[in-house]
Amino acid sequence: MDSLGQRLDMTHEASLTDVARYAKNQGISLVVVGPEQPLAEGLADACALLQLPCFGPLKAVAQLESSKAFAKDVMQAAGIPTAAYTTVHGEAACRKTAEEYLAATGGAVIKASGLASGKGVFVCTNQAAIDEGIERLYRSGMAKAAETVVIEQILQGRECSFFVFLGQGPATPLGFAVDHKRLRDHDEGPNTGGMGCYTPVPWLPADASDQVMQKVVEPLIEELKRRGLTYTGCLYVGLMWSVDGPSVVEFNVRLGDPEAEVLAVFDRRDWAQLIAAQLGLSPLPEGFVAAGRDNEGAAVAVVLASPCYPFGEGESKRFEIPSFIFENNGPDFCACAGAVRLEHGKYMTGKGRVLTLVARGKDFATARQRVYTAIHDLTAQWQGIQYRKDIGLSLVE
Ligand code: AMP
Ligand code: GLY
Repeated sequence: MDSLGQRLDMTHEASLTDVARYAKNQGISLVVVGPEQPLAEGLADACALLQLPCFGPLKAVAQLESSKAFAKDVMQAAGIPTAAYTTVHGEAACRKTAEEYLAATGGAVIKASGLASGKGVFVCTNQAAIDEGIERLYRSGMAKAAETVVIEQILQGRECSFFVFLGQGPATPLGFAVDHKRLRDHDEGPNTGGMGCYTPVPWLPADASDQVMQKVVEPLIEELKRRGLTYTGCLYVGLMWSVDGPSVVEFNVRLGDPEAEVLAVFDRRDWAQLIAAQLGLSPLPEGFVAAGRDNEGAAVAVVLASPCYPFGEGESKRFEIPSFIFENNGPDFCACAGAVRLEHGKYMTGKGRVLTLVARGKDFATARQRVYTAIHDLTAQWQGIQYRKDIGLSLVE
């Protein structure tokens, strides 16, 4: 049973240097860092000290995600399209600036500069929303992330994300995906880490990837270079797309979840080869990068979350996952474990986002049918399990 990652015998006190040393001692030849926190804290730096190849940026570059003030400063210097903004410190300045944006433009986005697991952003179109955002920011455990706050204009358009592998090889775009962050259908309910995704994004113009490379990624790499920095890893560009083209909402310094799952199933290329090339470990076969353009059809990912997600409130029911769900993984279907544990030989769901099911098909209707049929079969007895039924639905209606 190797559908779950191996649990390492390390305590919570283990430092990132301990983790890197452990990997080195195990003879691991390549580290790919998934989440943002260890990148922000310097796991890539710890690997670099041990000469352990790591796909993920150094701490100084990971600030593109861990400091929104840094990201905006880089974007402004590089001439990358993004919302007009002001950086402020302290509650009084935050309130004053947000109210000025509201009066001048009809809206304000208030963002904690530091990492806040997606909970530190408030899009405000009236005074009450500003009051509530400020209350949350300064009085509900986000004080550290909100030491610096970025106030922005509201951008209009449709949201999507762009992904590209960067490093020593030619930049390798993976394409676009659309995440569904709200818990319930039709974008209702609280924000979550992500409840589902689709790729590709058929409502974008045909040259969308080239536009983002030219207007965002290339100027970003140049500006980082001016600052003595280089980017190694996956860059995630959160975008608002309007008639004027792309405008950057945020950078993440990693693949997203569930974006990683939907893109990996959709892409017929071998990501291990793409990553090795970015780390200078092996050259890419000719035509390998361009082959991404030949990916056809569509993929849809749907997240199953425990009944108590996202606040951990209410009953925390757990369900047994039949092992065939992982054994059936193949090129067009994949069940990815999230909060899952192996207990006495049985896979059991835990608290949070428990599974992501991804299906690929010749079009969105086929991919959706495949993934939702699998979900119905799997969850028939799982009372209270939460998932969205509308992932990719607008594309087939
Ligand atoms: P962020 O963490 O910066 O990606 O913001 C979280 C969410 O807030 C984004 O996914 C958008 O839906 C929304 N958002 C952030 N900034 C803006 C903006 N300037 N205009 C409109 N919506 C925004
Ligand atoms: N699904 C959004 C993220 O991983 O940041």
